[in-house]
Amino acid sequence: MRIVLIGPPGAGKGTQAKRLTELLGVPHLSTGDMLRDAMRKGTEAGQQAAPFMKTGRLVPDDLVHQLVLERVAQADCANGYLLDGFPRTAAQAIMLDKMLAERKTPLDLAVLIQVPKDVLLERLAGRGRQDDDELVIVKRLEQYDELTHPMAAYYQGRGTLREIDGLGSPEEVFARIETELNGARH
Ligand code: AP5
Repeated sequence: MRIVLIGPPGAGKGTQAKRLTELLGVPHLSTGDMLRDAMRKGTEAGQQAAPFMKTGRLVPDDLVHQLVLERVAQADCANGYLLDGFPRTAAQAIMLDKMLAERKTPLDLAVLIQVPKDVLLERLAGRGRQDDDELVIVKRLEQYDELTHPMAAYYQGRGTLREIDGLGSPEEVFARIETELNGARH
């Protein structure tokens, strides 16, 4: 299966992605993790991404496209993958569609995890990743509202979008996603 997980910072995309990849046996492709890894290794992509990530802004589309294309070309993605945090802009959604069409591998589902802002802030304050600084979180949320949330309409129009209530325990949220997955499989 090929699935994309969409949601604001702190919605639980990473948390749910881990469970989903175990259930489906497909790799977890998180563009945030790929970018942090590139930064740690000091690659050119990492150096270009750093000023954006440190300030909570989205990294330029071209840079992310390249990382995704390279990752999806690897053998473990042959039977599907779970994209976590990609696409995040209309341009990224179009790029993904083009790639899927070229490979004749349609997207099965776009899962949008919805969580109210006060809960997101509480969750992120309790985690403490490098970009969980208060001002950076505000910027990340702004970028989500301006660029990523409107993009969800793209999947709504195609009938692949499933909106999930992200409140409750991770187990409860996972059960809701699993119900949608089962619906998409039949
Ligand atoms: P990324 O790493 O993708 O971060 P994000 O979208 O801000 O999301 P988070 O990882 O903060 O949250 P999450 O939804 O995964 O929640 P999690 O499961 O961790 O991106 C970081 C940066 O990289 C971006 O700002 C941008 O600069 C760049 N980037 C990445 N992709 C890009 C792209 N495609 N284009 C351009 N730039 C890109 O959970 C959060 C916390 O909540 C955890 O502590 C968790 O334990 C807790 N939690 C989760 N679920 C629950 C629950 N149900 N109940 C209680 N607590 C919960």
